[in-house]
Amino acid sequence: MLPLLTMHSKTTLAFISVAPKVSLSRLDELRNRAKFIGRSCKEVKDRYGQAEDGLYYLTTSTGVVYQTFCDMTTAGGGWTLVASVHEDNIYAKCTVGDRWTSQQGNNANWPKGEGNWANRKTFGTVEAATDDDFKNPGYYDIDAEDMSVWHVPNKTPFYHWNLAAIMRYHTERRFLHLYGGNLYYLFHRYPVEYNVGKHLSDNGPSIPIVYDLGDKESTKMFYGPYSGGEIEGGFISFRAINHERAATAICSGVKPKGGNVEHYCIGGGGFFLEGNPLQCGDFTGFAWNGYGTHIGFSTSKQMLESAVLLFYR
Ligand code: G3P
Ligand code: CA
Ligand code: CA
Repeated sequence: MLPLLTMHSKTTLAFISVAPKVSLSRLDELRNRAKFIGRSCKEVKDRYGQAEDGLYYLTTSTGVVYQTFCDMTTAGGGWTLVASVHEDNIYAKCTVGDRWTSQQGNNANWPKGEGNWANRKTFGTVEAATDDDFKNPGYYDIDAEDMSVWHVPNKTPFYHWNLAAIMRYHTERRFLHLYGGNLYYLFHRYPVEYNVGKHLSDNGPSIPIVYDLGDKESTKMFYGPYSGGEIEGGFISFRAINHERAATAICSGVKPKGGNVEHYCIGGGGFFLEGNPLQCGDFTGFAWNGYGTHIGFSTSKQMLESAVLLFYR
């Protein structure tokens, strides 16, 4: 455990104004985690009996070593953080920082945008996963069964993520087996690309979730009241398409029942036709009726200002 101030997760100012003091033996313990060999947090947990949440070293099938956060406690533990989707500026439409859509404008001629849902590019750092986008090699390397998702307020340090989260849930039906074992393969089967299909009929799968924090009703309350009319809580959904044939990547906590998915689904391809370019960006049309107003199709401020952390197990 980091020794200072870990009991005061709400007082965000407290922990950014003082650098934590850590003993040499603790540093030694953390450094020695480098000797564990595993492709996922589950392997590290099972093989070495590690039960503490924190940063661990993982090794890919090609020998790439990287560090990421392991949730070793939720529902039996062994969850590997592989990515975070972070909105740095909802007013900037498909510009720098929109790695999960397009950083080069809203453009029908660039239908896949960055393409990061289905490539091997990596970016960001684990410690900054709530400060900016993050994607590590586990995203495409780990052969997983289930997912866990945490919505964590921006700028939260990793040792407070669990406590500070506004919503946490996981799947438990081993659905990733059906789609290639991770999101990289799932999104090859369901390309996140403009104009690949029609809303509802060509959407990817919706998978039931088990809540670790929150419930179906609290999930719906994070999204705008107009969105409430076309979503059902208790699911995670993939490659949802909107009325104008724009593709989004993940609808966190919900299943779309309509075609205005740009207000409750994140990430996407490189083109969103409606209101061009207002719906283009990592958090798509989350501020359609104002910033964090929770009016019309706008999400709550909490949702808008929280990064979406994606885990595999
Ligand atoms: O996605 C919302 C849009 O399709 C309709 O919005 O602002 O015209 O009610 P509005
Ligand atoms: Ca981003
Ligand atoms: Ca719409």
